[in-house]
Amino acid sequence: MSKRIYYFSGTGNSLKAAKDLAALMGDTVVKRIVNNLKEDAASHDIIGIVFPVYYYGLPKMVKEFVEGLDISLDCYVFAIATCGGSVGAAFRQLQDILETKGVSLSSSYKIKMPDNYQLMYSPPSPEKQQQHFKLQEEKIREIARSVNNLTPSALADEGAIKRYFGSKLYKAFKPYKKASGFWTDERCNGCGICERVCPADNVNMKENKPCWGSKCELCLACMQWCPQSSVQYKKGTKGRARYHHPYIKVSELYNNQISYK
Ligand SMILES: Cc1cc2nc3c(=O)[nH]c(=O)nc-3n(C[C@H](O)[C@H](O)[C@H](O)COP(=O)(O)O)c2cc1C
Repeated sequence: MSKRIYYFSGTGNSLKAAKDLAALMGDTVVKRIVNNLKEDAASHDIIGIVFPVYYYGLPKMVKEFVEGLDISLDCYVFAIATCGGSVGAAFRQLQDILETKGVSLSSSYKIKMPDNYQLMYSPPSPEKQQQHFKLQEEKIREIARSVNNLTPSALADEGAIKRYFGSKLYKAFKPYKKASGFWTDERCNGCGICERVCPADNVNMKENKPCWGSKCELCLACMQWCPQSSVQYKKGTKGRARYHHPYIKVSELYNNQISYK
């Protein structure tokens, strides 16, 4: 049986979910969704899409990736959304894209994780983060049992009101317009991690300093993984603690493909 998990992740929450699940599924290749990733997935029997919720919907890159994906009609497709609180319309959006291909979303799962929306919030306390990680582990074991048995489930959707406001909010989600707000303070030492960690290939080093282009996904990887905490967004982030998943190494994000036996 051919099994693949595609994940998108800025700060590692979704990568951790994808990795842990793949280890329990066995024989699974885990691939990061990055700029211009084109895949022929028609030969896979199980496909998982793991992503963070952005503005109650899908990250733009995930939406475009799935729109371009060739999937066989009898493939078991499942989705995991990691989020700070609410998935809004994300699963519905994914289901609608798959339906245009004649494919069903066989099962979907929400996992609450530390909220990484650094532009507005500080990360949760370390104690609270640990509570999330413990619950995530339990949830992943449960998901592995369902996926390994190809169990279908009802859409892990939220009520109509959240979906309605979610769709409205998502219309305002224009991440590429935000990229001009990033800058580095005096602590930047030109290490280039921000460039390497960007899934959109939107950060380029010039004269040892990062420059942001117009393909931003707003995943905040550049800001959250900066070892000096020198990447800032406008005036709001100076002095605010950073977050990335403590059990994920930054090098795992550069390494776009991992195989699990
Ligand atoms: C641009 C942006 C928008 C977000 N919007 C939502 C949202 O609508 N609902 C929610 O519950 N969490 C939201 N979050 C929080 C993330 O979905 C959550 O922290 C996720 O686990 C991050 O995953 P990652 O570490 O794999 O990038 C948002 C985060 C970012 C950066």
